[in-house]
Amino acid sequence: MFTPGRITDIDARRKLTPAEVARIEASMDAHAVTILPGQDITDEQQLAFSRNFGPLEEGANSGARDSELRLPVVFADVSNLDKDGRIAERNNKKRMAALGNRLWHTDASFRVIPAKYSLLSGRIVPIEGPDTEFADMRAAYDALDARTKTEVEDLVCEHSLIYSRGQLGFTEFLPNERVAMKPVRQRLVRTHPVTGRKSLFLASHIGAIVGWPRPEAMAFIRDLIEHATQPRFVYVHKWKPFDLVIWDNRTTMHRVRRFDDLNIVRDVRRTTTKSDGPTAAQEAA
Ligand SMILES: [Fe+2]
Repeated sequence: MFTPGRITDIDARRKLTPAEVARIEASMDAHAVTILPGQDITDEQQLAFSRNFGPLEEGANSGARDSELRLPVVFADVSNLDKDGRIAERNNKKRMAALGNRLWHTDASFRVIPAKYSLLSGRIVPIEGPDTEFADMRAAYDALDARTKTEVEDLVCEHSLIYSRGQLGFTEFLPNERVAMKPVRQRLVRTHPVTGRKSLFLASHIGAIVGWPRPEAMAFIRDLIEHATQPRFVYVHKWKPFDLVIWDNRTTMHRVRRFDDLNIVRDVRRTTTKSDGPTAAQEAA
């Protein structure tokens, strides 16, 4: 079973001590997901708290999107609200893009330097859900048979928002968006820099394995995602107001479940820190 860490005696509204930062990082290294309940924070407090864990990713909302955003670009606005704070309409382009979050993924694996932590603040969370589900990619790796571990060890995958959104039939990309979403290469097996544990770096953003025929690659990736998201590797988070949930994108996948997003407000705001560097060499330009 996948059990997150839980920290109830740290106040995210104030400046953290080095010991508190170390405690949260130790919880993340051990559990890959950590819940801090009851954190009624402002955007500024969320930014200050997040910066304890590395440089923040800018442009987390980038890709197919409306030109005007509800939140500063340093936030990923994972709410169902449009730029005026109203529930986004059914055909809203941001809503279309956000539907990709219902697929198993890691945040920003489509960037050359992928994400380290995501920090998601539940400002308005409906009691009827949706839940967010997390899958432990360390346990999923450990459970592979020896032959498969050898096979995946040095594989490199190509990740792009074009692939994940394409799976849902979302193909309306502008020419400049297609350039911005050029696939990037990531190792399939990563080693955690602190714990040394290996994990599978999987996501619905994967659309190719370097050197493999595409259909064979996609069939294999589908098998691996199915393996890695068995209930024994999954933690289901049921949101309470002001939960602050942190996950390590290097060692987990996640997805949000469906809910009545055309009628019920859900305001959740994500900040994201960068990992140390690329996991693989990129294709020569
Ligand atoms: Fe996500």
